[in-house]
Amino acid sequence: MKALVLAGGSGTRLRPLSHSMPKQLVPVANKPVLEYVLENIRAAGVEDIGLIVGRWAEEFERVLGDGSRFGARLTYIRQDRPLGLAHCVRLAGPFLGDDDFVLYLGDIVVPDGITEAAARFARERPAAHVMVRKVADPRAFGVVELDEVGRVRALVEKPRRPRSDLALMGVYFFTSAVHAAVAAIGPGARGELEITDALQWMVAQGAPVSAGEHDGYWQDTGSADALLDCNRRLLGALEPAVDGAVDGLSVLDGPVVLGPGARVVASRITGPAVIGAGTLVEHSRIGPYTSVGRDCVLSGAYVGDSIVLDGATVADVPRLHDSIIGRSATVGPAGAHHRLVVGDHTRVEIAA
Ligand code: TTP
Repeated sequence: MKALVLAGGSGTRLRPLSHSMPKQLVPVANKPVLEYVLENIRAAGVEDIGLIVGRWAEEFERVLGDGSRFGARLTYIRQDRPLGLAHCVRLAGPFLGDDDFVLYLGDIVVPDGITEAAARFARERPAAHVMVRKVADPRAFGVVELDEVGRVRALVEKPRRPRSDLALMGVYFFTSAVHAAVAAIGPGARGELEITDALQWMVAQGAPVSAGEHDGYWQDTGSADALLDCNRRLLGALEPAVDGAVDGLSVLDGPVVLGPGARVVASRITGPAVIGAGTLVEHSRIGPYTSVGRDCVLSGAYVGDSIVLDGATVADVPRLHDSIIGRSATVGPAGAHHRLVVGDHTRVEIAA
């Protein structure tokens, strides 16, 4: 079996971060989302991985290389414009050949992995098998309707009146039967070639399509709130490891990871929290549920439930919560009023 991981797209919901980096490389608990994806695929026994990339192709190659770090072989496949998930399958036709494959969105996090679903697909070998999860409001998702024996009867992309609460998670297993489907469909209402339409086409042709319900954690990290939620969830499983230096005036409380060369001076870090290599934390209170990247400076800062990316500075800020601070950004004190230099499509919320 091969894998096709989708890491193109426009990432509009994650602006401004996605103006300067692909959303799939935004770190959660100090590891890029895409690395969790690749690890899950490897854990399911798949080594041959195609990666659909858009305008950030070079950045992906710089970070992931040929995939050998993950025990995988990566083939980069360029998509010039985000024309849809089924368009990605069309583009990857020569890479996939007639092999079975798992199609995996590069911005989702499934901590329990996909091994069980992969084993079921290999055992039963329907034309397609999709991972689904119950959601409170299915209107934002591809929704799957099952028949009495659990086969997929119908699929609808973002229905206004959903007929089930089972959402497509973004992990799909296919036999080569999908290639006829992606060739047969045309663009949907959003102007994209939808994978739900390809699946629906297969169902209409009488091809067996099954669904497996996942009841563990699952998150699409495509928005800021979702990233923070995911950060909390992944930090919840943190194994403490202190490689940095902690002075006698500081306290580490709960599971804390301190990277090599990190320094903690007269501060309290409440875990779960991870502090990247080379970062300085002084006269600060950090955590819980906080990830700080490499080479940051946190000085006189109270930061909780947040993600701080590499090279950022947070100084003399009394209460920072539920925040994402971009690479090499500076958050600092002001005089009598708030003073902002805010990037394009940024969201700033100021407490009264
Ligand atoms: P989405 O999150 O649905 O799309 P997007 O990246 O355009 O995000 P936004 O809605 O915020 O603008 O895409 C899911 C995954 O699939 C994501 O990793 C990007 C990837 N993708 C492609 O690689 N090619 C495509 O044509 C599309 C639509 C998505």
